[in-house]
Amino acid sequence: MVDVLLGLQWGDEGKGKIVDFFAKDYDLIARFQGGPTAGHTIYVGDKKIVLHQIPSGVFHQNAINLIGNGVVLDPVTLKKEWATVTSFGADVKKNLFISQRAHLILPTHRALDKAAELSKGNQKIGSTLKGIGPTYMDKTGRNGLRVGDLLDKNFTTSYIKLRLKHQRLLDNYNFQEDITSWEEEFFEAVENLRELNIVNGEYFINKHISQGKKVLAEGAQGSMLDIDFGTFPYVTSSSTISAGVCNGLGVAPQHIREVYGVTKAYCTRVGGGPFPTELENETGEELRKIGNEFGATTGRPRRCGWIDLVALKFACMINGVTSIVMTKADVLDSFRELECSTAYSINGVETDEVPFQMERQRPVPIYKKFPGWNTPTNAAKSYAELPDTMKTYVQFINQYLGVPVQYISNGPGREQIIRVND
Ligand code: GDP
Ligand code: IMO
Ligand code: MG
Repeated sequence: MVDVLLGLQWGDEGKGKIVDFFAKDYDLIARFQGGPTAGHTIYVGDKKIVLHQIPSGVFHQNAINLIGNGVVLDPVTLKKEWATVTSFGADVKKNLFISQRAHLILPTHRALDKAAELSKGNQKIGSTLKGIGPTYMDKTGRNGLRVGDLLDKNFTTSYIKLRLKHQRLLDNYNFQEDITSWEEEFFEAVENLRELNIVNGEYFINKHISQGKKVLAEGAQGSMLDIDFGTFPYVTSSSTISAGVCNGLGVAPQHIREVYGVTKAYCTRVGGGPFPTELENETGEELRKIGNEFGATTGRPRRCGWIDLVALKFACMINGVTSIVMTKADVLDSFRELECSTAYSINGVETDEVPFQMERQRPVPIYKKFPGWNTPTNAAKSYAELPDTMKTYVQFINQYLGVPVQYISNGPGREQIIRVND
């Protein structure tokens, strides 16, 4: 049995915290897509850790962790992350497994990411520049190198062949940066990666499923960054939605049970691209300040706005969301009035559907207003303790989406989460 937990917005919904909270009930936590993404934040005691590639279950003794075939893996980031989690007591050699089919991010993929982004000028995507896009391009272009290839004696020859191909592309971009030190780091990190448990991921996970083990698939980024259904071209390069679990881990659809969708009580986006409910005003500033909406790794300010129910309903539909986890509800504690978009107006025509092309069609949100609760909620431990005004807000969202909000997260800490109706 596989449950899925993924982001319903543009990433950074708090997935790491929720996976860490759920992990105690699972035997295996698996990442199915993405690469060294912006970062999943978790707290171990009062210590903050930002994970990029290692699944967020790594601090739980009861669970093992798998980096699935759908992930693109950077050995350099993995080496650094390995050191960090080890210093917090995790035993990566024992509880991390890596699919041999996961594609490798090479130093030249990072260089290509940077060169491509620079060439886009003011239409840049705001990529994390971790080489994710170029690595997926090499996967679908049938050029890439995979983790399993590291165990082949001809790995270096294959690397050099691909590197030469990349160099021609970099020359086209007139990319001048010297990446020798990146390559040195890469080959050192590759040695470390060879020491880890490299497995046939699809057999590994299916054996666990057939033994009755509980698997939690952890999404990265968010549904609106999905390569097919996101705000293309301002998206990432993988299937961030629940369908990505099947091809990113090699599990059949009938094994999927719950799909937990994580959304903030408002909305944020990092990088470029359409964001209909963005607030480029004092309210947006306020959300950024109170929500500490700055990138987990880069510190980039996140764009902030009201919750967008049109986009959320679309995300629930394409993912088959069965339960919603609403995070950062406490961030709204001091707002006198809240707004939710319930429809878009496109060229004067009202619709409750996400258009194919938001950049040209520029949907204008139509809002419903709610009174704020103006009460601190971060110490609440049960649904009964939450203010009625918050319950009204949550119930409206339930009804609009047709999917229940099952958990409300009211602070970054592990224990700050409330089961609705408990
Ligand atoms: P992820 O990428 O989806 O895992 O999310 P990030 O870790 O990038 O960003 C979420 C941020 O919000 C982190 O700094 C979390 O510590 C924090 N966070 C998560 N849940 C809550 C919450 O309910 N309330 C508050 N105030 N912060 C939260
Ligand atoms: P987590 O997993 C938020 C955004 C980037 C950029 C676009 C493409 O922490 O939620 P890419 O690096 O794939 O070329 O970036 O997607 N982006 C994220 N935004 N959270 C993330 O990850 C993200 N990963 C990528 O800012 O706009
Ligand atoms: Mg993040």
